[in-house]
Amino acid sequence: MLKVNQENCVNCGICTRICPSGIIKNGENGPQMLLPQACIACGHCVAICPQAALDNDNTPMNKQVDLEKFPVIDPRTAAIFMRSRRSTRSYRKEQVKKETLLELLNIARFAPSAANSQGLSYIVYENPELLKGITKVTVDWLEEMTQKGLRNYKGLVNTYRKTGKDVVLRGAPQLIVATAPGNLPNGRDNGHFSLTYLELYATALGLGTCWAGFVEGCAQAGYQPLIELLNLPEDRKVAGAVMVGYPEYTFKRLVDKNPLNVTWR
Ligand SMILES: Cc1cc2nc3c(=O)[nH]c(=O)nc-3n(C[C@H](O)[C@H](O)[C@H](O)COP(=O)(O)O)c2cc1C
Repeated sequence: MLKVNQENCVNCGICTRICPSGIIKNGENGPQMLLPQACIACGHCVAICPQAALDNDNTPMNKQVDLEKFPVIDPRTAAIFMRSRRSTRSYRKEQVKKETLLELLNIARFAPSAANSQGLSYIVYENPELLKGITKVTVDWLEEMTQKGLRNYKGLVNTYRKTGKDVVLRGAPQLIVATAPGNLPNGRDNGHFSLTYLELYATALGLGTCWAGFVEGCAQAGYQPLIELLNLPEDRKVAGAVMVGYPEYTFKRLVDKNPLNVTWR
């Protein structure tokens, strides 16, 4: 429900224009929410009001942070920060403390999600034997795919078979799996956006991360040995997976990528 502080509201109409569902209209007594059941709880109406005149039960003001108290990051620093995120494939042995991982995940939950559906929960796998098992069964799956001629992972499979090198989780001490309800239409997208936030924030915490695409692919394919090891709650599916740990080496330079390709029409 939308609550309006009549004394503060100047009827500027900003809340009516920014509501993504278009359900806030200006009435005689200021803004009104016409179709509360269509509110997606994005919090925009409360967060944008210059007069702090609105509150919304779905996204209460007392849970919002006053941005005026924080400096806005300058573009150059932001660009360098975003380019600093790299995939880490060599990790120190020590595990990341629970408090640090909670701090990390607490930012991951702010990523965009389809119609603000969110719906994600996360599982941290950190038992060394379990992690070894995840690598083992994922390599088995990669080998099966290769034998069936569906993909060619011969090199990775041979390296693992001959040397035991962890070609899947790269020796990371922890694996974070995002899960979404099986019936959430954009669950996997939500998971990927969330883990993208996680990867970026990890850089700021001095952590290294890397997408565990093989693990995710294997889980998406429903490969039973992996499904059993992951042991997800029945109604949930893997929506993305990222390894995490302290990087063994730090990058000294930013790399270039393909040149920008953009068209205006
Ligand atoms: C969806 C996705 C899946 C990926 N899966 C893996 C993976 O299984 N193993 C791995 O070492 N890197 C994986 N990567 C990392 C990419 O190889 C990496 O992002 C790319 O080489 C660019 O390097 P950078 O992340 O350091 O910029 C994955 C990346 C994405 C986006």
